[in-house]
Amino acid sequence: MKYIFFLGRIPAISLAEIQAILEKDKISYTTELITPAFIVLETKEKLNVRNLFVQMGGTLKIAEIVGSFKENEIRDETVSYIKKAFEERSGKKSIGYGIYFAKKEERKEINDAQDFFRDIFSKMKRDELKDFSTRIVYPQMGESALSTASIFNNKLTLDKNMELNFIFTGKEVLLARTIIVQDIESYGMRDYEKPGRDARIGMMPPKLAQVMINLTKVKAGQLIFDPFCGTGTILQEALLNDYRVIGSDANGEQIEKCKKNLEWISKKYVLTYDEYKVFQADFNEAVKKLKNDSVDAIATESTLGPVYKKLPNTEEIRENYANIKKLYVRFLQVVKPVLRNKALIVVTLPAYQLKPKEFVFGEFIDSLEKLGYSRVCPLDKKFESSDIRITKRNTIIYSRPEQIVAREIIIFQNNK
Ligand SMILES: C[S@@+](CC[C@H](N)C(=O)[O-])C[C@H]1O[C@@H](n2cnc3c(N)ncnc32)[C@H](O)[C@@H]1O
Repeated sequence: MKYIFFLGRIPAISLAEIQAILEKDKISYTTELITPAFIVLETKEKLNVRNLFVQMGGTLKIAEIVGSFKENEIRDETVSYIKKAFEERSGKKSIGYGIYFAKKEERKEINDAQDFFRDIFSKMKRDELKDFSTRIVYPQMGESALSTASIFNNKLTLDKNMELNFIFTGKEVLLARTIIVQDIESYGMRDYEKPGRDARIGMMPPKLAQVMINLTKVKAGQLIFDPFCGTGTILQEALLNDYRVIGSDANGEQIEKCKKNLEWISKKYVLTYDEYKVFQADFNEAVKKLKNDSVDAIATESTLGPVYKKLPNTEEIRENYANIKKLYVRFLQVVKPVLRNKALIVVTLPAYQLKPKEFVFGEFIDSLEKLGYSRVCPLDKKFESSDIRITKRNTIIYSRPEQIVAREIIIFQNNK
């Protein structure tokens, strides 16, 4: 079976998450095509795409490849696929589409392709599909594909509708039908409607929380600990994906908000494990309440330091990193007994963006290895390219172009 995973804004993060989930679930696969926008995977067995997808924060949609042909066959092949798929369906059907190019140099042909597809879809509707009662959902003018919101809102992943993806590989055109797309409503609700929000502490987006949880590679039912849980975004996403969780934070106000949020989420969704433990404690004290070798993974964000409107000077950056280093040295020491051997700790540290895509990092992370941890690169180097970036120190940056303080995703492995 061949699938296309369409990647989010930071392809290295999306790919790292895909790699971690497939490894965790012991799904063997080969990669056929890797681009910053999508990846083509082949698996021996059919994937349970829905189960995989609900866990994922970094993938926008997944499609299944249903055909491949030459460019001059696009119209005939598309008509034949649509007719077959809709053979036994009565009633109105919506059809959307997107066009994707694997090779950068071919993307300049995109304007011609946009016109070409607009034209053939309107002609197909008028001619070959005239008995099928179809509504075509076109990409916006100047766009080659529908937004995830448009696919979701037009319900194009329902069986009675479809979204078709045309992938120009350079050799052939792949036709892929979208199976699932990000549920924008659910993310919006989890991010903005929860009762305990706190913009001051820089809440983590739920999608990033999901990615960090997946990078720990633990299986459903295992225990994830967040010792700097704040308002509980990581705990909330972990509960939604069937992990057991323990959270603590030194700040009582945050803990109150966190408890409210988890209560709220357990009312909104059916949770497999709703007996979570959340309490106020500095991390030094929190670990004393946990059993030795009981924690399967940590996913957490301690402080990212002050929020800046303009780039801080070298002295400020040095001081911020000195404080963070102190915290991490102590933290990695005290948490060791409660961690299982080989448990992964996924954390974010601040990375200061000097110029677009040029960062200053906390130099100290390698020195933490002598505390009995090794560092693990989140993404296999085979995926790396100029658009899919891994830092020289084997970490991945989560940033926006205008952001001064970006997040650096770092993974430590506990070696007993
Ligand atoms: C960036 S916030 C975590 C945000 C959280 N991921 C969320 O989405 O709400 C960092 C948290 O670390 C907590 N913290 C800082 N120092 C701590 C310490 N020594 N022990 C425990 N918690 C601490 C702060 O109270 C704060 O809530």
